[in-house]
Amino acid sequence: MKRFLLPLLLACSLSAYPQAKPQAADPWWKHAVIYEIYPRSFQDSNGDGMGDLNGITSRLDYLKNLGVDAIWITPFYPSPQVDYGYDIADYKAIDPDYGTMADFDRLVSEAKKRNIRVILDFVINHTSEQNAWFKESRSSRENPKRDWYIWRDGKNGGPPNNWLSWFGGSAWTLDPKTNQYYYHYFYIEQPDLNWRNPEVKKAMFDVVRFWLERGASGFRIDAVSRLYEDPELHDDPILPGRNAYGDPNIEHKYTDNFPEVHDTLRELRAVVDRYPGSPVLISEADEPNITELTKMYGSKLDEIQLPMDFQIADVNELSAPKFRKLLDEVNNNPAGGQPHYFFSNHDQLRQWDRYGDGKHNDQIAKLMAALLLMPRATPQMYYGEELGMRTTPPARKEDVKDPIGKKGWPEEKGRDGERTPMQWDKSKNAGFSTAAKTWLWIPPSASTYNVEVEKNDPSSILNFYKKLIALRRTNAAVRNGAYVTLNPDDPNVLSFLRKGQASSVLVALNMSAQEQKVKFDLSEQGIAATTGQLLLSSPSASRRDLVLSGATIPAFGVVIVEMK
Ligand code: NOJ
Repeated sequence: MKRFLLPLLLACSLSAYPQAKPQAADPWWKHAVIYEIYPRSFQDSNGDGMGDLNGITSRLDYLKNLGVDAIWITPFYPSPQVDYGYDIADYKAIDPDYGTMADFDRLVSEAKKRNIRVILDFVINHTSEQNAWFKESRSSRENPKRDWYIWRDGKNGGPPNNWLSWFGGSAWTLDPKTNQYYYHYFYIEQPDLNWRNPEVKKAMFDVVRFWLERGASGFRIDAVSRLYEDPELHDDPILPGRNAYGDPNIEHKYTDNFPEVHDTLRELRAVVDRYPGSPVLISEADEPNITELTKMYGSKLDEIQLPMDFQIADVNELSAPKFRKLLDEVNNNPAGGQPHYFFSNHDQLRQWDRYGDGKHNDQIAKLMAALLLMPRATPQMYYGEELGMRTTPPARKEDVKDPIGKKGWPEEKGRDGERTPMQWDKSKNAGFSTAAKTWLWIPPSASTYNVEVEKNDPSSILNFYKKLIALRRTNAAVRNGAYVTLNPDDPNVLSFLRKGQASSVLVALNMSAQEQKVKFDLSEQGIAATTGQLLLSSPSASRRDLVLSGATIPAFGVVIVEMK
């Protein structure tokens, strides 16, 4: 989960698609488009200014129409909401802010009618300090649940070592009642579970069973690489500089990526594999390189089916060579696993402004959509990216909700800016809520970037997403074709082939602000065609074909053609 403070073709065309034959052997998640919903911000059904489960249910037809196959809903369990749900007080219930268990059941059953699966967030590394398990654990050194968390004596009048919380300050907090420190990778209110205790494992695997039995189709697993820490508590190496919270930078060497993570993931996978319907595990694995990412799949593809590739999410510049390298790596990962990536989520500044150049942001949004949806991968979208929603950070410190924004202001403004309400229409609160005040502000862009306006504009970002998603569903090569890099030395245009059996699709993405000349020699791929037939482009092309021996791609242009 990294955060960066970094700072392009309209009307499109679609030709008739050959229908892809369903591949019976493929699990559903291999061809799915997964859509992340931050429930507090998607749709408010009861006028309290916060989104809820019934709100999501009321918008399922929109998601169906967009072409989404699965929704991942970030935590809606009872929580004091210090970390907006990532601090869970009870893993097997629904927070009243979001509704009831009956509302959850209705959501799952209504989603199922539309062939949309529901993926839940599994916060595995830590609980809330309000969780009954932690209340017991902190009550005395002798409590049977004492060892469910990580308690240690202090050293030299201070914490046991120099480990730092990801959210600022020491990762250890002294609990005066028992005069020991507990460990928390994140907020003080999020004590880490001790995964070396078999009872913890059992309790958490029971949580998984509980939700699978209620109709969940899988889990996005939070902060998974942080499950284990060095039992000998070695100090982490200090790096130069300080972070937004004023702490020295450190390498999280002794708290991340312990090999035991993989033992646990294998066990967890065995638990979910016992359920019908191929439930999926997605990991929040902000792994630093392809070697670490590959480990997440498991050496026998027996761990995580879809580890999120943060390297691709965090390129943070429109660089054809950088995206090419990362796409090559993940397509050729030794495990043979399915690539899975995204550009926006509830922890990342939104892609519209992060990749936009300030002048051609809508065009770049379409380019990013093609980069997400056309390679061989299971894409993950974040609500509102299909509209070009932008990051709208708090204007003043007193408006900040996310605690890291209060602590790190003004350098770190927190994550509220990427969590603002979904923009449905031009009405009050952008159609999100009837409340006098919504939990987060409505961005000024909502009057022009919203579902109602964009659905009626053939050249909108929303309609471009819809066309790309439709291509994924209906074109055999886009659905099943191999990923082959083309023109590997081109500094500006990222080109690749989705090589199918009867036909192949070529995608060219111009990542520069100038038009670029391209030519393609597909003979090595056994393709004799001299032209490709236009499936989709942005901006709209005057020709219906692309001459492979020499063509021009407009600035920030997307061209998708098919060779039969
Ligand atoms: C990652 C989640 O995406 C983020 O929102 C949360 O603050 C941390 N994990 C801690 O749970």
